[in-house]
Amino acid sequence: MASLRFLGHSAFEIDIAGRNILIDPFITGNPQAIVKPGNLHPDYIIVTHGHSDHLGDAIDIAIKNKSTIVAPFELAMYCANKGAKTHPMYIGGSYLFDFGVIRFTLALHGSTVIDGENFIPVGNPVGAIIEASGKRIYHAGDTGFFGDMKIIGKRFPIDVALLPIGGNFTMDIDDAIYAVEMLKPKIVIPMHYNTFPIIEADPEDFADRIQPPTRAVILNPGEEFDL
Ligand code: NI
Ligand code: MN
Repeated sequence: MASLRFLGHSAFEIDIAGRNILIDPFITGNPQAIVKPGNLHPDYIIVTHGHSDHLGDAIDIAIKNKSTIVAPFELAMYCANKGAKTHPMYIGGSYLFDFGVIRFTLALHGSTVIDGENFIPVGNPVGAIIEASGKRIYHAGDTGFFGDMKIIGKRFPIDVALLPIGGNFTMDIDDAIYAVEMLKPKIVIPMHYNTFPIIEADPEDFADRIQPPTRAVILNPGEEFDL
């Protein structure tokens, strides 16, 4: 049985094909966090971009658990320099791991790591499509909506889409509804909202406006969804 657990903000834990996969594990400093980094034991950690609310605890968790960080090339190099095991990829690339395929997609955003007083650019941000056990999950990362979402949804029919709705840095509710119309996923789960005042959004408002056949599922931090 495959499952998806929301860890708050854009962080998710997926149990699929006998592997545990974390995405954007922002735990320390995340006001929504319901787990401690020490309680997470992933095989893989997907990091969509270098911002601290996505890279989060990835490097520490990866080093402690010998997990593999799967990230855009420059960000993977940054994590490798910090001592983590990494698998670099890039937009449009896919790779067959021991549980299934990870594919990186476009994301309209930035990607910089702030290391003390240094701002280190770490390439382009990405979204990720995970294909395993006959399921396809799309984590959009941080992004504005873009027309290619229509192509993504057509070429890689999506079971579950994880989309930001908080606005300011990413799509807001109106944009995310537009994105859902392009992606046509079976299920959409909102993310990247209400963590901070600047990204306040009402997930019920989003869910109420989603049209069939797509179904919206709101997960509170800690809640699980059976895939
Ligand atoms: Ni970001
Ligand atoms: Mn973010």
